[in-house]
Amino acid sequence: MPDTFDAIIIGSGPGGYVCAIRCAQLGLKTALVEKDPYLGGTCLNVGCIPSKALLHSTHLYHQAAHGEAHGLQFKDLKVDVKRLMERKDKVVGQLRKGVQTLVSKRKIEIHEGTGSFAGKGKVTVAGSDDKSTTIEGKNIIIATGSVPVSLPFMKIDGKQVVSSTGAIAFGKVPKSMLVIGAGAIGLELGSVWSRLGSEVTFVEFLPTIAAGSDDDVSKMAERIFKKQGMTFHTSTKVTGCELNKDSVKLTAERDGKELSFEAEKVLLSVGRKPYTEGLGLDQIGLKTDDKGRIPVKNGQTEVEGVWAIGDVTPGPMLAHKAEEDGVAVAQRIAGKPGHFDYSRVPNVIYTDPEIASVGLTEKAAKEQGREIKVGTFPLVANGRAIAQDATDGFAKIIADAKTDRILGAAIIAAGASEMIASVVGHMEYGGSAEDLGSTIHAHPTISEAVKEAALAVDKKAIHSL
Ligand code: FAD
Ligand code: NAI
Repeated sequence: MPDTFDAIIIGSGPGGYVCAIRCAQLGLKTALVEKDPYLGGTCLNVGCIPSKALLHSTHLYHQAAHGEAHGLQFKDLKVDVKRLMERKDKVVGQLRKGVQTLVSKRKIEIHEGTGSFAGKGKVTVAGSDDKSTTIEGKNIIIATGSVPVSLPFMKIDGKQVVSSTGAIAFGKVPKSMLVIGAGAIGLELGSVWSRLGSEVTFVEFLPTIAAGSDDDVSKMAERIFKKQGMTFHTSTKVTGCELNKDSVKLTAERDGKELSFEAEKVLLSVGRKPYTEGLGLDQIGLKTDDKGRIPVKNGQTEVEGVWAIGDVTPGPMLAHKAEEDGVAVAQRIAGKPGHFDYSRVPNVIYTDPEIASVGLTEKAAKEQGREIKVGTFPLVANGRAIAQDATDGFAKIIADAKTDRILGAAIIAAGASEMIASVVGHMEYGGSAEDLGSTIHAHPTISEAVKEAALAVDKKAIHSL
């Protein structure tokens, strides 16, 4: 007799393992199926966490290398890439242990192997040793995540042409690196290697970098990153790739003109796509949409008892979105409320300065025909930013012109990833710009720029004219 579970979760990324934990908290008999050797998925093993560890280390290096104005001089400043990578691996290792402990202590059964549907309510788990077992579940949750998109004319070989997984594990600083796509991955990992001395050149299809961000943020970001030494070719489409012994040559097109670029490495970061390979969706008659995503309504797929969460479903491909999906599905399975609302999912790019946003951009609000008021506050007028040499950036609050309700925010600032949380909190409870502007922020903090931007919505900012 196969084991029967209340919930079987396929995939242990932030969607899957969080869902498993919430299921177990709710008293459901839960199994977690994972094909990779470690729990934690893309985010913990090759995504959010290792990239942030590298961003932090290289930020320290960059600060040390530019300490003269503060009277700090470091002679013979060097980078030991091996140690840098070891520290990153240690961070990942510590968190892997943490997730493993959290899951095991809650008596969630971990099944190592690739999960696939073997009919209604049945999942076959094929282990690496060619053994397979079948488990049964009243509810099956697909949390299989996503993988990098490639281009038809270039293959990610993990050596010369890499995805983010290769770019978080280079053994030495490449002399030069071409980054295809100036989105979240490109900007973060481009920053990492640029700070360590690589000559980093971006080739971006769209006219702006960090697409989807507020227009003023994108413009300022490009200006700042150029000052940091990175080069950008926007409105440029990569059309071909040629591998040479020690370099890669890309051909591209801009305004009908052919361009070519050459570098030691190429980072291909043109997006990620949902991963459902080998899941046997046909066994249960479940179809994906034109983008390969599993359509869901409040986490429930078209097939009864089958749910899907995280990157494999529509919505932002972000760890915190996957987590919230996971919690909401667990709640629904247990007959409790669980809500899915992606209008207040914060988005952060962890460059220096960081780029953070939530809700509508000014442009999107206008395109929707909304009457809005906008308040902006520049960091050059913020005491803490001046004290810590971080005056590049601003905070912007977009509010409804009649109700004053906050519709969105865009921040480009050191620490923007932390600052955005207070705006999300206000929006969650339907807060107004006035509410945010009259919330006391500690002084001196860069967060005060958010309060001032909220005050600026009604032209009441204190520290700007
Ligand atoms: P995943 O984390 O992809 O997990 C899916 C899991 O399912 C994997 O472990 C996989 O092995 C397993 N699996 C797949 N198929 C099967 C199967 N058939 N059987 C068993 N197991 C299976 N997001 C942020 O919010 N903040 C960040 O700072 C951030 N940084 C990122 C940096 C990089 C370089 C990358 C690549 C991504 C980053 N992301 C970030 C995105 C984030 O990693 C994803 O949104 C998140 O991991 C999605 O979670 P998930 O649970 O849906 O899927
Ligand atoms: P992305 O969607 O953020 O950016 C891809 C960029 O590539 C876009 O600007 C696009 O215009 C460009 N592009 C597409 N095709 C191109 C071509 N042929 N030539 C030139 N440019 C081209 O995707 P990215 O950076 O790969 O990241 C994937 C996902 O991972 C993100 O959407 C995000 O959800 C997640 N992520 C989140 C992070 C965070 O939250 N800090 C960090 C890294 C990844």
